[in-house]
Amino acid sequence: MMDAYICGNKAKKDNSTTPFNLTITALVHRRYLQIPANSHGTLPTGVPLHPSIMAPVENVDIDSKHSSSRFVKSSTSLSERISRLRAAVQLLVSASEDVISAWEADPSSVIFEPGALLGVPSHKLYNARQTIEGAVGTCLELVQDPRQRLLEMTYQFHDARALHIAAEARIAEILDKGDKDNGVSIQSLGDQTGIQKQKLMRILRTLCSNHIFAEVSNGFFTNNYVSDQLLNNEPFLAYIICPPSTGYDACVKLPEYVFTNQSESNNRIPFQLARGSDQTLFEWLEQPIVLPDGTRSARPELEMLALSMVGIGRVQGPPLHLDYPWDELRDATVVDVGGGIGGMCIDLSRKYPDLKFVVEDRPSVVEQAPEVWQQEHSAALQAGRVKFIAHDFFTEQPIKNAEIYHLRYILHNWSDQDCIRILSALVPALGPTSRILISDQVVRTTCASQHFKVAPYPLLANYGFAHRFIHQMDLVMMSQVNGRERTSEELEVLAGKAGLEVARMCTDYMQ
Ligand SMILES: C[S@@+](CC[C@H](N)C(=O)[O-])C[C@H]1O[C@@H](n2cnc3c(N)ncnc32)[C@H](O)[C@@H]1O
Repeated sequence: MMDAYICGNKAKKDNSTTPFNLTITALVHRRYLQIPANSHGTLPTGVPLHPSIMAPVENVDIDSKHSSSRFVKSSTSLSERISRLRAAVQLLVSASEDVISAWEADPSSVIFEPGALLGVPSHKLYNARQTIEGAVGTCLELVQDPRQRLLEMTYQFHDARALHIAAEARIAEILDKGDKDNGVSIQSLGDQTGIQKQKLMRILRTLCSNHIFAEVSNGFFTNNYVSDQLLNNEPFLAYIICPPSTGYDACVKLPEYVFTNQSESNNRIPFQLARGSDQTLFEWLEQPIVLPDGTRSARPELEMLALSMVGIGRVQGPPLHLDYPWDELRDATVVDVGGGIGGMCIDLSRKYPDLKFVVEDRPSVVEQAPEVWQQEHSAALQAGRVKFIAHDFFTEQPIKNAEIYHLRYILHNWSDQDCIRILSALVPALGPTSRILISDQVVRTTCASQHFKVAPYPLLANYGFAHRFIHQMDLVMMSQVNGRERTSEELEVLAGKAGLEVARMCTDYMQ
């Protein structure tokens, strides 16, 4: 049995998965594993079995010569350094040609409509992008003054703060309304934002040197291809502003945490150290704030964080819509566990008009959902295709025998023990055709592994630079919620401890 996937704008039927960092993993309960899989390793619902339980993964090119020594040791000889640099530059050239031919074949792949659900790149384009990022990292490692590299890394948090300020001041919107050829003067930007103009200029110049915004002449700024994405895109802007702010506070306490706390408990994590309180992030979000006039109001971050999940989901989520045969489920029910305001379901419901949805989350979150659905997809709301239920996912799942229990960005928020509790609470609800789908980023290390497609020599096995965001998120999880991003092996272990088996994991070694 073949699954249908769509890559770019072209429908294609093959066994490949959609390339991206957010990965979908289908879990099935062990008690249903005796249902015979056919010769293609397909379970009755059309879910191919994970290759690791069908047979050892083959055809994975792990170049033993290079897999363990892709970094530049102090002892690396000059000739080896030169050959690595040549190989990295050759990759840059050939991958750039791949990007150009992908752009020429499908000019729409260059256009990122702000706020729109992103298209999914073809495998060729995705691989070429990763290769370029990885090659840039390798070239810097080889040629940059290493002390300069360390110095730049030391202050990188200021780049992040500069982006935060520009997003909060809505610089992109102001520039969009101004003179796009000659730019908007720093005087005007200062007047419109209320930020002293010299300070704002330094913030914007920091971003321009990071290729975000452009200074077209001295003190005159415009948007560029990157900053355009901050326009007309409230959910994405909410993501750029909100989670990194709470993350930033916590990150300040990360050194204190790792040097003094040897336990893996949920207590005294950096988020709590930063606030001098035992409250978890989710408890803190629930706490009302007192306004200057003495009245109490919901913490603004509560609403903003929920919206921000729609924003990040639209950047990372599209592959999830393609990597599972949702269309074969017809009018089945998808229970989105800890589904926030239902960002994933809004997008799925547009694409698969027969599917039904139950969005579960904490009461304070699900009560925001109907208004968002009213704006985003009122037809689904009126047709009764979606229900919202306040449910604590540590307690037994109330919706029994649903086809799909979906958890996106959930397990990464929790420790291993908590994840086992969350998965175990779903088990009593599972019927013979139920599947638990985990949508999380999957960590790859710089050591080659059978579990992922290894980058070509001389790049780091996980494409290095191209994998940075996942590691950043891993440390965000450590600081804010005592969670973690996991490798595929770690996810399999967790599933096993809850009595579940991995039926399918969409990783790009399957390409
Ligand atoms: C990172 S967000 C992901 C939201 C959503 N799955 C998405 O992808 O858009 C984590 C969600 O878990 C919810 N959550 C936290 N603790 C919960 C609990 N005990 N029961 C149910 N939901 C919870 C939060 O309210 C939040 O909406």
